[in-house]
Amino acid sequence: MSHSYREATTVVHGNHEKNALGALATPIYQTSTFVFDSAEQGGRRFAGQEDGYIYTRLGNPTTRQLERKIALLEGGEDCVAFSSGMGAISATLLTLLRCGDHIVSDNTLYGCTFSLISETLPRFGVEPSVIDMTDEAAFKAAMRPDTKIVYFETIGNPSMKVIDVEAVAAYAHKVAPGCLVIADNTFATPLLLNPLSLGADVVVHSATKYLNGHGDVVAGFSISRKEIIDKVRMVGLKDITGAVLGPQEAYLILRSLKTLKIRMDTICANTLKIVDFLVRAPQVEKVFFPGLPEHPNYEVAKKELRQFGGMISFEMHSFEAAKKVLNNVKLCVLAVSLGDCETLIQHPASMTHSMCTKEEIEAAGFSDRLIRFSVGLEDPDDLIADLKQAFEAAE
Ligand SMILES: Cc1ncc(COP(=O)(O)O)c(C=O)c1O
Repeated sequence: MSHSYREATTVVHGNHEKNALGALATPIYQTSTFVFDSAEQGGRRFAGQEDGYIYTRLGNPTTRQLERKIALLEGGEDCVAFSSGMGAISATLLTLLRCGDHIVSDNTLYGCTFSLISETLPRFGVEPSVIDMTDEAAFKAAMRPDTKIVYFETIGNPSMKVIDVEAVAAYAHKVAPGCLVIADNTFATPLLLNPLSLGADVVVHSATKYLNGHGDVVAGFSISRKEIIDKVRMVGLKDITGAVLGPQEAYLILRSLKTLKIRMDTICANTLKIVDFLVRAPQVEKVFFPGLPEHPNYEVAKKELRQFGGMISFEMHSFEAAKKVLNNVKLCVLAVSLGDCETLIQHPASMTHSMCTKEEIEAAGFSDRLIRFSVGLEDPDDLIADLKQAFEAAE
């Protein structure tokens, strides 16, 4: 199927392969290994002289169907699936970096990615420069002709900063022609933004979030040119992490993708209503949402995002008030993760970003008064009523 269909069609039919027995749904190939017809055939498959499956860590037909669909959605040549977003991120970075390399990264990242880049990679001789990539001067000062990787989240977790992918990729490639620009597109999803079309080289996802969207799978993807994905699969997945996605999970994501467009449209519309309530609520000090004209990256967000997304952060007047809100919501679910049918509410400073120091949290532009809110598919008026009673309880 060509990429010329509209998104609602692509998420249902995109790259769907007809299978031998004609089943509409993709069969779950629940197998660890694949039987060879002969020793010669096994040898040819290992030597790459014959197409065909060998062992599920190296590939599985259910997972392959999913990879092909995700590659199409992101506009990449190929994709490799992982058993978590962190699996995708670590396998991609460990494949593409070596001792002595330099990486430039944004300072607002999911906590585990942040510690991987700022603490773990230096243990292997990789030198990170962690800066605010919305600060053009800081980014230009950090880039070097030998920089190997530039890494950021298209919408930063949890401060909702929006990176100008086109400008960052153009400058990075000019200064360091061999450098690869990697964008984590988890918050935006391929329906809101396609970083590869703006000049990024690799896109990574936590598919645990919107792509699966039902709170029952942990998964990740890396999408890029075939040559890069082949390397990430054969080194980062096969040899380093072994973080392979199971066929059952691949099936569940394939199933969920069919409703990605209607889920995202409803979530984005619900979010606008909730933002409108939050900016008027006297108990809320500040709302972080890329669709607000006062958001520092509003112009970039307007240029880059097809919709403003389903994630909101907001700061209460005190840490105590934030805690009371979290303890008093009745409909919103107090849990980390995001992108599910249920609205999820959490406290980044003590939860998803608890591995960051106070200074790192400040540099990322938030505080312990911040609440992160992942809007779900409930009626937005019910969510607003729930927040209203929790705000009143916190007063
Ligand atoms: C932006 C972002 N990237 C990556 C991850 C890691 O994904 P996973 O939990 O699937 O390993 C997360 C998790 O919350 C995330 O928010």
